[in-house]
Amino acid sequence: MTPEPFNLATAVANDAPAGSPVGVSIVLPTFNERGTIAGLIGQLLGLRSRFRLELLVVDDDSPDGTAELVREIARQEPCVRLIRRVGRAGLASAIKEGLLDATSDVALVMDSDGQHEPAAVERALDTLLSGNWDLVVGSRFHRDAAIRGLSGRRERGSTWANASALFSLPKAYGSLSDPMSGFFALRLDRALPLLRAVDVNGFKFLYELLAVSGGRLRATDVPLTFQPRTYGSSKLDLAIFWDFLISILHSLSFRVLPRRAISFGLVGLSGVLVQLLVCQLLMSAAGLGFERALPVAVVTSATSNYLINNALTFRFQRLKGALLVRGLLKFLLVSSLPVLANVGLASAFYDLVSRDTLWAQLAGILVVFVWNYAASSRFVWNTP
Ligand code: GDD
Ligand code: MN
Repeated sequence: MTPEPFNLATAVANDAPAGSPVGVSIVLPTFNERGTIAGLIGQLLGLRSRFRLELLVVDDDSPDGTAELVREIARQEPCVRLIRRVGRAGLASAIKEGLLDATSDVALVMDSDGQHEPAAVERALDTLLSGNWDLVVGSRFHRDAAIRGLSGRRERGSTWANASALFSLPKAYGSLSDPMSGFFALRLDRALPLLRAVDVNGFKFLYELLAVSGGRLRATDVPLTFQPRTYGSSKLDLAIFWDFLISILHSLSFRVLPRRAISFGLVGLSGVLVQLLVCQLLMSAAGLGFERALPVAVVTSATSNYLINNALTFRFQRLKGALLVRGLLKFLLVSSLPVLANVGLASAFYDLVSRDTLWAQLAGILVVFVWNYAASSRFVWNTP
């Protein structure tokens, strides 16, 4: 589909009076939103009748040409700024970057795909400016809000996710009905010191902000009608659900355990199941003895750990094709020391301590975790 060329004159609803008092920076994260971004910018420019406006589009090098289109618009409209990122990715980090670059006193973040109604912008800004609030969230679950763009399954998922999110957030935010929203306005002087600390590995920037703020932001919400997507597709996938689970556990661990270690640990747990299962299967179905079945089970579980970690824990450094195979060999090599330790320890435990194969294996697995996490972060996915 070739989108129409952008025409500023038809897109701008209102024109700006000079010197309007309050400055507002609107952060618009984009990934493949060429079909909607120009129309949205056009509608938002109408706000210049009330605010000194700055629009920051943060694009992660979208292959559909979103950045080229926004650059064209920015040439005609100096209040539109394009931040184009190459080699960095992720919604939460895009939002953080936009907020850190904003020059106004007040900032607002919203989706660029048309799912967030532009009418909610004024509602949120008016609430923020008239009340004594630091943060105003556009809520899909507000009493007066309607959801049009979510499937029944996704809506139920969000409701469940919200309940668990509220449970893990500071009590002061108990009245917020949508802590996972992608739409919110905030006072930058109050929020800036906190923004630095926001962990951007998650998808949900707002949730992270609320978590690091420790209840210090005066926050409320306004209704937000969530519209169906008209172009492109949602980037919410299994990995994002995973991120969310990690965020909750991270908060529940008082933010002490690194997010990535939690993820690595959970994957490790799945590996424990794989190892126990394969070992049991080889012993009962194939009739192998424990000492013969164990090495096969350990290698199978290490391979499964590697593949899942590559897809989830290290997905921003994900290895593909030949590199995936090389990575597996490296991973097996890196973990062979503890794999040997695992086998040795489990066998020794079995011989010396107890003839219980379950405890024998668990003892081996525990020793392996710490080494594997540290060594494979560094040598397999080349992260610190
Ligand atoms: N720069 C950048 N980089 N932008 C991104 C990225 C990324 O990696 N991923 C998504 N975006 C942009 C999209 O272009 C869109 O403007 C916005 O972020 C939201 O992405 P969607 O993929 O449309 O999210 P959604 O509609 O499924 O999820 C909505 O609901 C969530 C709560 O359930 C959004 O409002 C989320 O922000 C919200 O948390
Ligand atoms: Mn969307």
